Amino acid sequence: MAHWVTVWRAAQLVGVPRGALQQRVRSGEIELHDGLVSTETLLALYPQARLEESGLLERVVQIRDEAFGKRLRERVLPSQEVLSQRLFHQSQELADVQRHLQRYHALVLSLRERLRALDAEAGGSDPRFTEVLHQLSDGLARALATEPVDVLDVMDDMLKVVSAQVTVRPSGHQFTVEGRDSLLQAGMKAGLKLNYGCGNGSCGMCKVRVTSGQVARCMHSDYPLSETEKAQGYVLACAHTAASGELTLETLEAGGPEDIPAQTIVTSVRAVRTLAPDTMLLHLQTPRTHRLRFLAGQSVTLGLAGGDDAHATHPVASCPCDDRNLLFYVPRRADDALAVRLFGEALKPGDPVTVHGPQGRFVLDETPLPLVFAACDTGFAPIKSLVDHALSLDAAPSIALFWLATRPDGHFMANQCRAWSEALDTFEYSAFTHEDAAVGAGQVATAMRADLFGIDSAFYVAGPAPFVTALCADLLAAGVPPPQIRSEVLP
Ligand code: FES
Repeated sequence: MAHWVTVWRAAQLVGVPRGALQQRVRSGEIELHDGLVSTETLLALYPQARLEESGLLERVVQIRDEAFGKRLRERVLPSQEVLSQRLFHQSQELADVQRHLQRYHALVLSLRERLRALDAEAGGSDPRFTEVLHQLSDGLARALATEPVDVLDVMDDMLKVVSAQVTVRPSGHQFTVEGRDSLLQAGMKAGLKLNYGCGNGSCGMCKVRVTSGQVARCMHSDYPLSETEKAQGYVLACAHTAASGELTLETLEAGGPEDIPAQTIVTSVRAVRTLAPDTMLLHLQTPRTHRLRFLAGQSVTLGLAGGDDAHATHPVASCPCDDRNLLFYVPRRADDALAVRLFGEALKPGDPVTVHGPQGRFVLDETPLPLVFAACDTGFAPIKSLVDHALSLDAAPSIALFWLATRPDGHFMANQCRAWSEALDTFEYSAFTHEDAAVGAGQVATAMRADLFGIDSAFYVAGPAPFVTALCADLLAAGVPPPQIRSEVLP
């Protein structure tokens, strides 16, 4: 018998990006019922997800090509307390199902006895009694017969223990809680724009309402929830994790940059590293109790201590899911106060840097379209953040990244791009080099036309003005609708 699972869980079960499944839904290959996919359909489309024909436990861990076993082993397990709570809740559900089955079984047996008695009273002359009795006995035999287990159902049950599935209302977004992550950390890793402030249980901004499922406290919190809030099911997402395999939360998420408050945080330099002769990496770390909430692709203004009170605005290159560690790729420029300090070796680990922000609207839209990113030089910084975010969301059917460098050593994160491309079937990376950004943009556009001709995509372009202007003009000329092009001009 088929079981029904969400698209999110289905992607985990068969080991493909969620975007790839959604693409098959849109093309009609997968039919959804109430937003759920049948495991029969999944197995027909992904037969490699079947288990080996051996014992049950072995079947779960020795899956053909070991893909699922590997995915399970790679997961960091939750704490013993949370694991035992999830097992307890799952055992409760199983016990409940078992109790119901036993009652149904007893009911069917007593009905059969009663029918036999009625049949005997009627002298065995009424063929209707005989027919119903046969029907009942056949049905019972079929119900009690050993049938092959629904393998995806078994896998789903195991996944519920090691990684709980959370649904957020009213958005309908879903994410899984893995390892020892709090609900907030897990949601952010999945690319959700959840509301929060301190991240350590003292501001109350991450309040969510649990409408189904169970949670467990995973961190001490000072923020006092009122008795009414507790009675209504409110908890702090930063201080709780999922204690049941499925959980539904009610909370509002940020819709866009306008929902992210302006912040000022004194961070400290964690590291400074040369990425290329003309590009430095600056790694800032916020205090544990005061992290930067921002959206992928946004920038911040960095205030540098010292007599000249210097400021510089740079895009954050890291993922918003790691809100303590902020990375910046800083190009050598004489008119940039931060670059002057970095290349002059005047900024050292431990130095304070004030972060103001975030700013900017170069952020990822919620779209079912394939994503195409194009960067020139350190325009790769906001693109890197957007790619991280898109990978966390796991909703894009495919991602293509084009990176133009105007210097031979300009692809300072080429290894990272190649790693994405090698690890993900749906990720394409192409590198270009041309000293003239506008001419290079033309090469990128030609490659895009060759690779993406006819594919309806959302485009994100970042870099110096000549690159952005030339590439956007080319995209528009190729017929890409303006709302599907987002761009960010960097100095
Ligand atoms: S983010 Fe401040 S209490 Fe959770």
